[in-house]
Amino acid sequence: MRLKKDEQARFDALAQKYISDPTVQSMKNFVQHGDTSTFDHCVSVAQTCLALNERLSLGADEKALVSAAMLHDFYLYDWHEKAAWHKWHGFHHAHTAAVNAKEILNLGDTECRAIESHMWPLNITKIPMSRTAWIICLADKCCAVSEMFKTAGKNDRCG
Ligand SMILES: [Fe+2]
Ligand SMILES: [Fe+2]
Repeated sequence: MRLKKDEQARFDALAQKYISDPTVQSMKNFVQHGDTSTFDHCVSVAQTCLALNERLSLGADEKALVSAAMLHDFYLYDWHEKAAWHKWHGFHHAHTAAVNAKEILNLGDTECRAIESHMWPLNITKIPMSRTAWIICLADKCCAVSEMFKTAGKNDRCG
């Protein structure tokens, strides 16, 4: 989602801590959907969250929202590679991301709970329980679909 100038300035200030972190940067090495890296996916989700919160007057705390969205897929492996320990990636990665966010970047409990619930309804018992959590859950799905269509569009082109 394209941000307005003032939205982009607020996003840059809130996301800077994460964008400049080497472990967060390492998400550039992992593919998320199509040819989008996990890092770029997290940036897109965080920007979409900020825009939805602002434009629909949803009232979530912007700092918590951008922080949790930037780390919502902070699981730090390539889920496309076959490995028994992440065979159930869809079900387990939200918990892994929340643990990493807490341990590596000292993210708060509310933000970690929002990360843990971003895969609802796949993780049926992890229901989003805050505005932040609901916005991330929605923005994540919008961005995932957009990234998959973007790749499919490229593959459909001739030449
Ligand atoms: Fe995810
Ligand atoms: Fe995601």
